[in-house]
Amino acid sequence: MPTATLSAESSKFKLPFRRSTVQAPAGKQLPPMLSGGVPGLGHALEMRGDPTRVIRRGRAEHGDVFAMRMPAGNYTVVMTGHEAQEKFFRLRDEEVSQREVYKLTIPVFGKGIAYDAEPHIMREQLGFFHAALRESRLRTYCEGFVEEAERMFGSWGDEGVANMLEVGNEVTLYTSSRSLLGPRFRDNLSEEFAELYTDLEAGMNLVAFFAPHLPLPAMRRRDRARAKMVALITKIVAERRASGERCEDVLQTLMESKYKDGRSLTEDEITGLILTIMFAGHHTSGVTFSWIALLLARHPQVMRELKQEQREVVGDREQLTLDELRKMSKLEWTIKEALRLYPPIILVARRALKDISFRDFHIPAGSMLMASPAVGQRIPEIFANPHSFDPARFGPDREEDRKSPYGHIAFGAGRHRCMGMVFAQLQLRALWSHLLRNFDFELVDPHYSVDYTNLIAAPSQPCRVRYRRV
Ligand code: HEM
Repeated sequence: MPTATLSAESSKFKLPFRRSTVQAPAGKQLPPMLSGGVPGLGHALEMRGDPTRVIRRGRAEHGDVFAMRMPAGNYTVVMTGHEAQEKFFRLRDEEVSQREVYKLTIPVFGKGIAYDAEPHIMREQLGFFHAALRESRLRTYCEGFVEEAERMFGSWGDEGVANMLEVGNEVTLYTSSRSLLGPRFRDNLSEEFAELYTDLEAGMNLVAFFAPHLPLPAMRRRDRARAKMVALITKIVAERRASGERCEDVLQTLMESKYKDGRSLTEDEITGLILTIMFAGHHTSGVTFSWIALLLARHPQVMRELKQEQREVVGDREQLTLDELRKMSKLEWTIKEALRLYPPIILVARRALKDISFRDFHIPAGSMLMASPAVGQRIPEIFANPHSFDPARFGPDREEDRKSPYGHIAFGAGRHRCMGMVFAQLQLRALWSHLLRNFDFELVDPHYSVDYTNLIAAPSQPCRVRYRRV
């Protein structure tokens, strides 16, 4: 799901929403305003470079809750810290809307799909994903993850240098396309598909947040790409229907799903939902794959412990299954720790549909609310030594995440928590299980930083490690 920023397109709350026009009721106060900002643009310019720095600054100035100004009168309240994050993620759909802030997805996912659908329809659509991600399906997807790892890393030489961001994005494109559209589609993955996907992706940019329909070349390419994508997926659906073939993939679930009123999904809806789940799960997983590479190469002791776990869990078994993947606890904690330090989605947002009260703060209807996995997960009251890489913090004797259930929010939390969390964990475990059993890694470049230019925060380039087959 997308990182959020402010959309000037918000339909219901288009009115310039100025703090000076709103009064807090007696005994309450409006959240304190962050210092700085410029007339007209508010704090938007400062948010452009490294949004986490602005949020850290706000937190240092005012604590768990503070306000920022954004263009078009958008008044934004940022909530960090355990209690404020809990409040944010427990807000009900009647109180806050995602639809109002994730409008840039509409031209890609399609009209009437996900965030563009009425909330009750979106709930039904997300329900189709539940069915596609159920336990029995996960077994099939895991077989695919293991096979893809063997195919990709089996072709590596004895030693070399790999750009792990590129590798992560490529291997997760194979795993996702296979789980979504079936092994045959993955085997014939065409350049056309990759190009269409790139064009769709390029249309989900910061400009699109503010004005998704500006007549810019990137937006025109995005719209053309979507039309071709619908044609491509419609063809697969038609072929599958004609042959009577049934596959263990997300497409099959969507083809067989029905809304509560008995209506089947149209081809446009099927494509839209495939794109929704693809965009939710592909880069987020690819980027996390690359952070794990950098963190392990920098922390050889953790890598040694993980290799030992591989020997204990896998031994000389040839077939790795879901059950073995589930036993890799240390690898699970490592993935969780990578996601804590470097969450791909650094901000999530909602629009307040009603006045909201938190402590003695009054957050008026129409405000934008934001929580930040990137800042919230590095708060020392929640995680000890928050900037250090320490996967054992999730182990049975420490369980820092359980002590603070709204502390680890890389997958969101509450009613809109990521539906692909288990899928993503298992996929990353399968890929890294293969790599840990077959390779040693070293850093090539001593320093790495976060690149915030795209919606999904990734390691800056070049993101290289040296690998050596063991
Ligand atoms: C490391 C990988 C991933 C990360 C970090 C991640 C992160 C997130 C976050 C933060 C949200 C909540 C957004 C919000 O509250 O506004 C979310 C929602 C969602 N994610 Fe993921 N995600 C990942 C992988 C996946 C995968 C692999 C899939 C599908 C197979 C997926 C499907 C979804 C869906 C459908 C939602 C919407 C849930 C709802 O609104 O009820 N995600 N994800």
